[in-house]
Amino acid sequence: MMPRLVVLLLGCCLAAVGSMAAEPIETQEQIWTFMKKYGYITEENMVNGMPKDEETKTKSITYFQKMGNMTMTGTLDEESMELMNTPRCGMKDMESFADMMRRKRYALGPRWRQTDLTWNILEDSDDLPRAQVESIMARAFKAWSDVSTLTFSKVTTNEPDIKIIFAAGEHGDGIEARFDGGGGVLAHAYFPTSNSIGGDAHFDEGERFTEGTSTGINLFQVAAHEFGHSLGLRHSDIEDALMFPYYRGYVPNFQLHRDDIAGIQAHYGEGNGQPEEPDTPSTPLDNCMPQISLATRTEDGSAYFANETHVFRRTSNNIIPAGYPKRIGDEFPGLPTNLDAAIFYSPYTYFFKGSQYWRFQNQEMAGTYPRPMSDWRGVPTDVDSAFVWSRNGGIYFTKGNQYYRYTGRENSFYPQPLSHFRGLPSDGVDAAFQYSNSITYFFKGSDYYRFNDSTVMVDNGYPLNTAIQWLGCDPNELLGPPADTGGDATVMVPSMVAVLFSALSAIYYAF
Ligand SMILES: *[C@@H]1O[C@H](CO)[C@@H](O)[C@H](O)[C@H]1NC(C)=O
Ligand SMILES: *[C@@H]1O[C@H](CO)[C@@H](O)[C@H](O)[C@H]1NC(C)=O
Ligand SMILES: *[C@@H]1O[C@H](CO)[C@@H](O)[C@H](O)[C@H]1NC(C)=O
Ligand SMILES: [Zn+2]
Ligand SMILES: [Zn+2]
Repeated sequence: MMPRLVVLLLGCCLAAVGSMAAEPIETQEQIWTFMKKYGYITEENMVNGMPKDEETKTKSITYFQKMGNMTMTGTLDEESMELMNTPRCGMKDMESFADMMRRKRYALGPRWRQTDLTWNILEDSDDLPRAQVESIMARAFKAWSDVSTLTFSKVTTNEPDIKIIFAAGEHGDGIEARFDGGGGVLAHAYFPTSNSIGGDAHFDEGERFTEGTSTGINLFQVAAHEFGHSLGLRHSDIEDALMFPYYRGYVPNFQLHRDDIAGIQAHYGEGNGQPEEPDTPSTPLDNCMPQISLATRTEDGSAYFANETHVFRRTSNNIIPAGYPKRIGDEFPGLPTNLDAAIFYSPYTYFFKGSQYWRFQNQEMAGTYPRPMSDWRGVPTDVDSAFVWSRNGGIYFTKGNQYYRYTGRENSFYPQPLSHFRGLPSDGVDAAFQYSNSITYFFKGSDYYRFNDSTVMVDNGYPLNTAIQWLGCDPNELLGPPADTGGDATVMVPSMVAVLFSALSAIYYAF
């Protein structure tokens, strides 16, 4: 009798200040409802609302603990229960057990095709005046536009890309998505989709949203987090990242974590209006590298191009610093020559050669390497190129006329023919990478190809010359006096049939 009375009293008093508190999570039923809501267990693995066996139970709890950066005991200890009762975002933490196997970092969902997005507030907050909420929202968007190619504009229409509402309880997007009053779920948002709801952000009116104080819930922090979802980011298991699922209290002078920045840039590029590709001839002919066998990036924003022995560097502000090309081992101490491929997977750059690989963070080896390629399950030795594909964030390797996707396990679906990446040379490529503009480029011989993720084929007008476009070499020196202007002259207009076919095949290939 007593506890119920307390709850009733509490309910009455909170109702008096305008909100009901979310129920604390205590019972087994509540615990497993939570675990299911956030993706730590699926319906198929449950019987009567509980895990179907001990193994599933331990695994679910372990992943919950991993995501929360707690000791992975596999049993629900006090620390776990405390975290479970911490106010948080209503979005899922993981899609599957396999998803959770990924290293500690951000995770990507779908992305917008356009980078200029609009927003509007369609239902106001009770807590703060409209003008203040608008200025908080604008700042939350700015956190993301400051570090990417994205721009955001406030509009007054009812159908902006990102619709913001404050609502309580069930609010039109399904009973599962209903809000729970003060604490518990603070807000949720929808990933970009072509549906009207894609990108929308909903805030629980049951919270007391505030600005600039540690009482209540800081609206700016919650909004910036939700807009991360609106832009296609999933939860990160890095505790200091904005995309960490739990609210960690008011942080004055809040800033994005480099994990958040790496996530948004993997989707939309770095911005700052930098040109897509360099075209400032500045490199003397003697220093030009007519062919490259490797293209990659490092965490500091540099792009690297290497041949058998030397490496070329372009910094994030598109400058080729003095002293390049350098010997590979002078730039990356410990790396051998004649590398096969490299891939940048933030924050690390991995280099591959034969049956071995090395891991670097910027110009320093990060750990004890080389290690065997067998760490990369399902990936062959002697690869030609490696890249994170901008279309889906997947990790791909090419070898000859075939490609592999790294999935963390043996995968009989691969290899697949490289011809799925339409327009690439049929006998394979030498190098590939995703540049800071988030476009994927392929290199072969003296040429490179820009790949279009929406048509799933090489863009018209390619290939172009790598040394001229990427290494800043003077076309006159490199090619002699112009007879005909090469690449541009051979632009072909695809026929309607080809366009239709390409749209269809883009859908049918699983990649
Ligand atoms: C996990 O927590 C420890 C101890 O608080 C901290 O040092 C570490 O940076 C955290 N790791 C992540 C990925 O957040
Ligand atoms: C690699 O590049 C360096 C520097 O431009 C050049 O001196 C060397 O000849 C190149 N190696 C090959 C095999 O082309
Ligand atoms: C990709 O192709 C589409 C259709 O031809 C075009 O509108 C778009 O600009 C291309 N994307 C890039 C990055 O060039
Ligand atoms: Zn979230
Ligand atoms: Zn909602």
